[in-house]
Order: sequence, then C-alpha cells, then structure tokens
Amino acid sequence: MKREKELSPEDKMGELVSLCKRRGFVFQSSEIYGGLTGFWDYGPLGVILKKKICDHWWESLVYRRDDIVGLDSSIIAHPKVWEASGHVECFHDLMVDCKECKKRFRTDQVSGDKCPECGGELTTPRQFNLMFQTHVGPSSDTQSLSYLRPETAQSIFTNFKNILASSRQKLPFGVAQIGKAFRNEVTPRNFIFRSREFDQMEMEYFINAQESKRWFDYWVQDRFNWYMELGIKKEKLRLRPHSKDELAHYARECVDVEYNFPFGWQELEGIADRGDFDLKQHINCSKKDLTYYDDETKERFIPAVIETSAGVDRTFLTVLVDAFHVEELENGEVRNLLSLNPKLAPVEVAVFPLVKKLREPTIKLERELKKEFKTFYDEKGAIGRLYRRQDEIGTPYCITFDFQSLEDNAVTVRDRDTMLQDRVPIEKLKDYLGERLK
Ligand code: GAP
Repeated sequence: MKREKELSPEDKMGELVSLCKRRGFVFQSSEIYGGLTGFWDYGPLGVILKKKICDHWWESLVYRRDDIVGLDSSIIAHPKVWEASGHVECFHDLMVDCKECKKRFRTDQVSGDKCPECGGELTTPRQFNLMFQTHVGPSSDTQSLSYLRPETAQSIFTNFKNILASSRQKLPFGVAQIGKAFRNEVTPRNFIFRSREFDQMEMEYFINAQESKRWFDYWVQDRFNWYMELGIKKEKLRLRPHSKDELAHYARECVDVEYNFPFGWQELEGIADRGDFDLKQHINCSKKDLTYYDDETKERFIPAVIETSAGVDRTFLTVLVDAFHVEELENGEVRNLLSLNPKLAPVEVAVFPLVKKLREPTIKLERELKKEFKTFYDEKGAIGRLYRRQDEIGTPYCITFDFQSLEDNAVTVRDRDTMLQDRVPIEKLKDYLGERLK
C-alpha cells in the first residue's frame, strides 16, 4: 500500500528544482560564479531527456510524414531579417523600475503603481527591445550590429525558395526546425520556464490562404495530441485562443496549448495563423521573388503560413512536473517518484547485483542489454536504496541478479510504478523489456 503525499505548489516546485540539481537534470549556469539569471545548463540526465523530447517531435513531424522537411539554420542572420520581420520595431516588452529598490518588472506583471517587492513608487512604463545585440566582425559600430535570433522561424521564411527548389515539395508543405533562441527577458522566472536562452521546436506550414481555417484547426488538434502522446495528463492541458489585443504583430489568429503548472496555467506552445505576413515582408525588403507557382491552377501567389511554435525547455519542465510525485509507503518510507513515459526515461533499465560478489555476471548482462537500451549499472548500496535512486530519476525497470540467477538463468525485474516484481528468464529479457519500452 502506498499513499500520495500532498505537497503545496511551492513545495512541489522546490522539491523538483532540488531533484534536478541533485540528480543532474538541470544546473544553474555559471553556478561557481554566483549564477547568471535566466541561463541554465542541462546535466548528464537532463541532456538525454531533452534530446528524447526533440527526437519525439522530429519523429512525429518530419520522419513520419511526407509533407514536412527539416532545416538547421544559423543563429545570427543578416540584421535586415529582423527589420523585415518586425522584431526591431515591435518586439518589445513594457517595463517599469522601482524608484526605491531599483528592481525592474514587466508592466503586465505588476498591478497598480507600487512596487510588488517593497511598495516603492514605480517609473512610467518604457519600451524595451528583447533582442540580444552583438557585433559581427572586428569593429563594433552600427554597420556590424546584429542580433541573436529571438525565434527560429525567420530563417525558414528567408530559405523558402531554397527549400522549395531543393526538396521539390508542393503546397501544402511544412519546414521544421529545432534550435536556440534568445530573448533578453525583463523578468526570467519559474526555473527554466522563462529564460533568456532556450530551444524552440518550430514548424511553418505553407498553404494556400483559402485553406487557412482548415489547416489552423488541424494543427491545433495535432499539437494538442502530441503532448498527450508524451504522456502528459489530459486534464492538465488546455487550449486557449488569444484575444485580438494579445496577438503578436504577425498573427491573425493564435491558440496556445497551456499546462496547469504549480504556478498556474501557462503557455507551452502557440499555433498561429501568420497569413502571408512574413513572406510578403521579406519580398518587400529583399526585393527577391518568394512567390509560389501552382502548376495545376497556373496561379502564382504568396503562400499563407500556419505556425506551430513550441519551447523545448517548457516541454521538459512539463514532463517533469507532470511525472513527479512523493509517495508514503506502508513501512513509513517516503519515495520520490518520476512516473515518466518509459520512452522518455534517461535510464531505461538499471541493473544491480544482489551482492558485490555477483558483479561479474551482472556487468556481463548489463553490457548485453546496453546494445538495445539505455542502461545503468549500480552496486553502491542495498537493493532498496538502489531502487529509490532509480525511482526518483524515472527508470521504468530495475533488474537484480541474485544467487539463484546462477542456477536458473533468470533475474528479478521490478516495475517502477507498481513496485511489483517478475522473474524473467535472461534469454527472454530483451523481448520482455522491448515490449514495454519501445
Ligand atoms: N515564432 C513564434 C514565437 O516565437 P512565442 O510565443 O514568442 O512565438 C513560442 O514563442 C514558444 O517558445 C513559447 O510557447 C514557449 O514555449 C517558448 N518560449 C518563448 N519565450 C521563452 C522563454 N523566455 N523561455 C523559455 N521558452 C520560451
């Protein structure tokens, strides 16, 4: 028998952040120098989980379909790209400063004209451009000024003709990209939820504008389902259409996929009807032809775009928050548990000898399983403790090699969620695990 331990939202986040550091999922960037606000490093387990999330996205959009191709473009692009896209002129947050404590806030995150931290008087709101600036080449003047990209999407638009010519796609088709984006956020917060450097998974789906509504609805549903495929609880997910006054400068319509975090409902992904805004802007600014010729209708036009734009780090946080519980067991012990979808677990199978004396055959078994699964060998501690360590990082199966294994060529396989144990012949082990993990 086991019971879920109730945690307050603050305690849940606190426990999770501490687990992330202790077990090597996420570290504060530059920690030994006091950290740098809004920047995070992914540790040995975090990097595997992050990669698995990206692989799952790529698999579902690029490999499993014929109508979407991939791109991996540079982070720094010609500064004209950001003039054309509207980011130089429009990508602002309104911010205020406290005249007393000098803290800075986004206007939409304070109510009234008194500082939420110290009650001091706030300045009048000012616009603040979120793009990080840099200089390309040896001189630092206005000629060399450039930006770290604030979204991955733009290079999909600037490469539209290259992709069309090289991939021979016909409308409707999409271009997918995963990569870094940078925003000098006024108030990074909630762990990795809002940071200054993050990864996006974006897909721009080019269509004939007459089909906008149909494709918009299709992608909203498809992307909502993707989070459920990751194993996220349906009741914690919702779709929220944007009101007209919160639409980004390029969007005609937008629906967010949101998750109910311990700090409230928040955006994971936006699905937006960008119309022909971006291609038109790049045609005007570059004077290059970015139109599409339809051989069937003999028409030439600027395609419209439905965009799906998700954050890798937000998905990562969602996966962890959704899977994390603390259980009180019958014997009074407390276990931290990450009930991760087995497909996402950084360690899929942990292998232990019952006693160190059995190390040799156990390592031999672990090496064999490593050919197919992400395995981990551990002998440091009693079996109960080894199980707890794996439960807290979400390892779906733990295998124990005992004295009887030498006689009957079978091992004990323990299930993370139910804690039930099966005796499985070693020759059937790969099939047994494969059925449950793949
Ligand atoms: N190309 C459209 C675009 O960038 P967005 O709503 O600004 O739209 C898309 O960003 C997604 O990128 C968000 O839904 C979120 O998952 C992620 N994202 C945006 N800003 C972020 C930040 N500061 N930290 C982490 N993720 C962020």
